[in-house]
Amino acid sequence: LHDAFSKMSKPRVLVTSPEVLQPAIDLLKERYELIICPEKPYATRQQTLERISGVDAALWCSKVKVDKEMLDKAGPNLKVVATISAGYDHIDVKEVKSRGIKVGNTPNVLSHAVAEVAVLLCLATARRMHEGRLKIVNNEWEASSLQWFLGQDIQGSTIGIVGFGGIGQAVAKRLIPFGIEKIVYSGNSCKPEAKEYNAEFVSFDELLKQSDFVIIACPLNDKTRGMFNDEVFNKMKSSAILVNVARGDVVDQPALIRALEQKKIWGAGLDVMSPEPLPTDSPLLKLPNCVLLPHVGSATVKTRTAMSVLAAKNIIAALDGTPMPAPL
Ligand code: DGY
Repeated sequence: LHDAFSKMSKPRVLVTSPEVLQPAIDLLKERYELIICPEKPYATRQQTLERISGVDAALWCSKVKVDKEMLDKAGPNLKVVATISAGYDHIDVKEVKSRGIKVGNTPNVLSHAVAEVAVLLCLATARRMHEGRLKIVNNEWEASSLQWFLGQDIQGSTIGIVGFGGIGQAVAKRLIPFGIEKIVYSGNSCKPEAKEYNAEFVSFDELLKQSDFVIIACPLNDKTRGMFNDEVFNKMKSSAILVNVARGDVVDQPALIRALEQKKIWGAGLDVMSPEPLPTDSPLLKLPNCVLLPHVGSATVKTRTAMSVLAAKNIIAALDGTPMPAPL
């Protein structure tokens, strides 16, 4: 009877996917009653709506929107939403907080992994990795031709980083050893940490004008949505490479396709696009100067484990009434 009572009185935590890494589940299951959605890779909006009623906390493992309808459905027991992501553009943070519900994300623990992918995309795009394989497959390899298949150097280049937060800084740190000329960055404000990287705060226009590599590492919000449009591509160098490891919607994708087709810019390396998954008939897939990855910036065992554990700790802290390690 005692057991039954203690089980009943445990806080209930909704976990919106069965794929959360085990160390996080182990942390939570000692303390709470877990309602783990069985649908792979994660519960749809409808399935989440069906299960969220009355829970005390939600471990958010998808980009399903956390909005008024979802919160109404959850009801007054909900005390915390912890997303397993650094990005929180799927969460109406203002609405969540206005209801006295805490909300947390998983910054920092993924910065190095996402930065590794940014470097990978810089290299792969500059040295035409995707196109190079196609040349071999299509028997178009012009062996020993001195001017065939030339790429761009990272050494000596100016790196422009849009959004100089944890990820932007991790990218800077990793590109400096390539012998770059300099780093410029744009964003809301000048960052004191920029001194460490000798990075100069410039206007967005100035960044576009100077940069050989433009790396997008900013959050998606009302200010940044569609920020890379036709006008912006016209301002970039025709030899410039665009790398996006943030969110697809920061880029006006049809404008990017035009810029790549018309060689207004030299190439693009994208870990994120719009929509995701990208339809297989997308013109992006037809462009030899576009290197694509299926949004895998944080997809390593170590990083996804760290993200899951940090989100679990956000829940534990919020339910204990102590400060969350990564609040929004
Ligand atoms: C993040 O953490 O925001 C990554 O993009 C994974 O969604």
